[in-house]
Amino acid sequence: PTPLKIAVIPGDGIGTEVMPHGLHCLRAAASAYNLSLQFTHYAFASCAYYLTHGTMLPADWKALLSTHDAIYFGAVGMPNQVPDHISAWGSLLRFRREYDQYVNLRPCRLMPGVPSPLSGKRAGDIDFVVVRENTEGEYSSIGGRIFAGTERETVVQETVMTRVGVDRILRYALELAKRRPRKHVTSATKSNGISITMPYWDERMDVLRAEPEFEDVRVDKFHIDILTAWMVLRPEQFDVVVGSNLFGDILSDLGPACTGTIGIAPSANINPEGRFPSLFEPVHGSAPDIAGKGIANPVGMIWAGQMLLEHFGFGEAAKGVLTAIENVLGRGEVGVLTPDMKGEGTTDTLGRAIEREIFEVARLSGRG
Ligand code: NAD
Ligand code: IPM
Ligand code: MN
Repeated sequence: PTPLKIAVIPGDGIGTEVMPHGLHCLRAAASAYNLSLQFTHYAFASCAYYLTHGTMLPADWKALLSTHDAIYFGAVGMPNQVPDHISAWGSLLRFRREYDQYVNLRPCRLMPGVPSPLSGKRAGDIDFVVVRENTEGEYSSIGGRIFAGTERETVVQETVMTRVGVDRILRYALELAKRRPRKHVTSATKSNGISITMPYWDERMDVLRAEPEFEDVRVDKFHIDILTAWMVLRPEQFDVVVGSNLFGDILSDLGPACTGTIGIAPSANINPEGRFPSLFEPVHGSAPDIAGKGIANPVGMIWAGQMLLEHFGFGEAAKGVLTAIENVLGRGEVGVLTPDMKGEGTTDTLGRAIEREIFEVARLSGRG
């Protein structure tokens, strides 16, 4: 079979520490389920690259990356040396836009063995997916500064919502919900305060949900403020949560925090039409506070690899990897889970345990 071509971009900080384990696990899955994956490593799209080249990306980045089916991305950011908006807009946000990865899928699941900070929650109680608009909204570069340096100094930044952009993300969320057992969408809004763009978001949702194909999908909407409260107080109620770029960003750190740690959360930045590569990454960043200590949780990176397999139709392998993650977390062996999950393990002990478990799961299912 023609190999699936994957561009590997570790980035900075713990991105470079969790990436090797993501790759071990993808290689394990490829070997156990007979898949052909081809990896090409790139050092750009990192602050380390920026500090020597003065740009985050080389001039020919698009020609290089466009030959790949997918980008497997670690995390970017060295806040003490490169301003965060430079590193983000120079790499990740640029990929999302130029590759029209307008769907950002961010599942949140309370896993066996991972303690939730919310009392009385058990594995499976929290199981929803944030569908984040990923190419427009509050993340715009339209705006500017006037009267700089004076008392009247003023900054303005526009929020952009287009009919195409809003409709395609809402439709994606409705279609996703339709395929899930609970068939429920929660739409994040703030149409009481943000009086032009957010009422527009709600208006488009009302139009789309009325389509006959979504008759069986239940739609709720909450203003983002109370939605964050419900996510903590009653996370069970969520199935598919759709939000604008900024709201989706916030909810996709809050949701994983409710499931114990943001260290396990994965993210798929998808161009559904397949015209451009899609990008798979953990939700977390480069975590400078723990970088270099060898204790970063590799599960977000590994689970992102699992989403990559799922996206390209390798369902059996994807299921195997998810089961392997669940088994290892659920067993909670001493010295395996990383400190963010109240364990005493390291990136290495956890990553290796999941890699071994991928082979074991495949063997038990009659593979390998
Ligand atoms: P962060 O996600 O890097 O870290 C937030 C907190 O969570 C830190 O205390 C960190 O130690 C902890 N944490 C994160 N991932 C973890 C893991 N795998 N295991 C254990 N603990 C983990 O967010 P931040 O501190 O806001 O940002 C740090 C840098 O990363 C900034 O430069 C920011 O711009 C960048 N960032 C990049 C991405 C990305 O590349 N996708 C995402 C978020 C932040
Ligand atoms: C994320 C990150 C990025 C975002 C940053 C690094 C710009 O927080 O992927 O969630 O806000 O989208
Ligand atoms: Mn974020």
